[in-house]
Amino acid sequence: MRNLPLSPPQCHIILLLLLIALTHLCMRVTSAACHVDDESGLLGFKSGITADPSGLLASWKQGKDCCTWAGVKCRVNHRVTNLSLSGQPGKPNSYLSGKISPALTKLKFLEGLYLQKLRQLSGPFPDILFGLPNIKYVYIEDNKLSGRIPKTVRNLTRLSALSLLGNRFTGSIPGSISKLTELTQLNLGGNLLHGSIPPGIQNLKNLTFLGLDRNQLSGPIPNFLGQFSKLQFLRLSVNNFTGEIPDSISTLSRTLTSLELGNNFLTGKIPDFLGKFKKLDTLILANNKLSGTVPKSFSDLTKIFKLHVEHNKLVDPFPQLHVKSFKSLDLSHNEFHLKKIPQWVVTSPIMFNLRLAKCGIQMKFQDFKPSEASFYDSIDLSENDISGDPTALLNKTKNLVRFKASGNKLRFDLGKLRIPSKLKEFDLSRNSVFGKVPAGVARVEKLNVSHNHLCGPIPPTKSPASAFVGNDCLCGAPLKPCKA
Ligand SMILES: *[C@@H]1O[C@H](CO)[C@@H](O)[C@H](O)[C@H]1NC(C)=O
Ligand SMILES: *[C@@H]1O[C@H](CO)[C@@H](O)[C@H](O)[C@H]1NC(C)=O
Ligand SMILES: *[C@@H]1O[C@H](CO)[C@@H](O)[C@H](O)[C@H]1NC(C)=O
Ligand SMILES: *[C@@H]1O[C@H](CO)[C@@H](O)[C@H](O)[C@H]1NC(C)=O
Ligand SMILES: *[C@@H]1O[C@H](CO)[C@@H](O)[C@H](O)[C@H]1NC(C)=O
Ligand SMILES: *[C@@H]1O[C@H](CO)[C@@H](O)[C@H](O)[C@H]1NC(C)=O
Repeated sequence: MRNLPLSPPQCHIILLLLLIALTHLCMRVTSAACHVDDESGLLGFKSGITADPSGLLASWKQGKDCCTWAGVKCRVNHRVTNLSLSGQPGKPNSYLSGKISPALTKLKFLEGLYLQKLRQLSGPFPDILFGLPNIKYVYIEDNKLSGRIPKTVRNLTRLSALSLLGNRFTGSIPGSISKLTELTQLNLGGNLLHGSIPPGIQNLKNLTFLGLDRNQLSGPIPNFLGQFSKLQFLRLSVNNFTGEIPDSISTLSRTLTSLELGNNFLTGKIPDFLGKFKKLDTLILANNKLSGTVPKSFSDLTKIFKLHVEHNKLVDPFPQLHVKSFKSLDLSHNEFHLKKIPQWVVTSPIMFNLRLAKCGIQMKFQDFKPSEASFYDSIDLSENDISGDPTALLNKTKNLVRFKASGNKLRFDLGKLRIPSKLKEFDLSRNSVFGKVPAGVARVEKLNVSHNHLCGPIPPTKSPASAFVGNDCLCGAPLKPCKA
């Protein structure tokens, strides 16, 4: 067989056609306009939104390159790969109402879907995820999605992160979630999920973050946690878990940085092995029914900066910790008799939150001299045996928001106290404080100086009478008028 020779004119026509086709192709690529599917997918999403008072989607206009729209990122072939919309916390107007439109499935190259803090986004579990072949990161957080998490979630095997934090999902966690073996982050916190943790979760061996906190989950904390060789964050607080802290947690000693099991119905002791968790910086066991001591091994937790064990039945002795920079300690309402505020709290340069209510502290307030007071946000030393005068300390805690010291033996002239400018909650009830109530209390939202020895007219205040009763001679609103 020999090739058919093309005559010169035919050849030229073919070359010309090729050239035209090529330039056309190049023009399409370099003109870099939004792909028509992406544009209509995004506009479809926008038309599913019924209110956008702060204009989060104001830049989403047909004909303008969608890769430049707010929250839209393009990469490969100028296709949309990331959609990220977030409401701003302090701004009441910053929300989106409506539903997630099925039109989003036109975004065939989408890898990341971040719809966070939009507050009013509603509807069921977003089926669109099943129609997005490249989706890997899903963060649909702080919205009002509801209904069940469907069993078909098993199809989303490409997912590396799934967060449905802060919605209204009900029902149980589907066992089929065990198929999402690429997951490194699973966050279902802050929903209305109940039932127990499905055993299949142990297949998610790549998890670094597991958040199931603030639901209604019950049953024991499963004893398979050792399967997670990469787990750094385990959040199970605020559920109805019962039983003891399982032994299998001990296998996480090399990786875990944060363990949160507070507000459950856990019983038994705090396990000794927790002292081996060299990376642990946060441990929350508060509001359970734990008994026994805080293990001595905790003195090896050199990274820890947040330890909350309040409202349990823990007893003395509390171990001496070897930490340089502690931030937040709550030991309140156990059966401790600490006598003093621990030295490692006093010397910490970044102490922020100190709560030692009913901890058997017997000291003069003046002897509490933190080496750095300016970071303090909260101090609660209620129901102890503390005497003396907090004036010098409160003169230094310029960021203090909360100060509670009711039920002690404080004795000082309140009139001479400089009220920290950010103070919102101030409770000195049931002490022996004397003098006048200073005008600065007007700023305090929750004030209580009842049952002391105060005297004189009460400055303007929104606090009720119960905040002032039981003093020697206070007068004026909300108590009886002062005598002329
Ligand atoms: C996608 O958006 C999120 C949230 O804004 C961001 O954290 C992430 O890095 C983005 N991913 C890519 C690949 O651009
Ligand atoms: C899940 O995958 C199965 C099998 O590939 C398929 O038949 C089914 O339609 C998929 N379901 C959804 C909701 O995508
Ligand atoms: C975990 O991650 C590794 C590497 O990122 C990956 O190869 C593996 O398939 C993933 N899944 C499981 C179950 O280990
Ligand atoms: C969880 O415990 C609370 C408080 O005891 C109770 O009101 C609630 O019904 C429990 N929920 C479940 C699902 O067990
Ligand atoms: C409070 O601090 C100021 C300086 O910031 C100082 O002048 C004053 O004497 C202090 N008052 C008390 C009671 O320590
Ligand atoms: C103030 O404290 C007393 C006793 O501690 C309490 O009975 C009263 O309800 C409190 N009032 C307010 C407004 O907090």
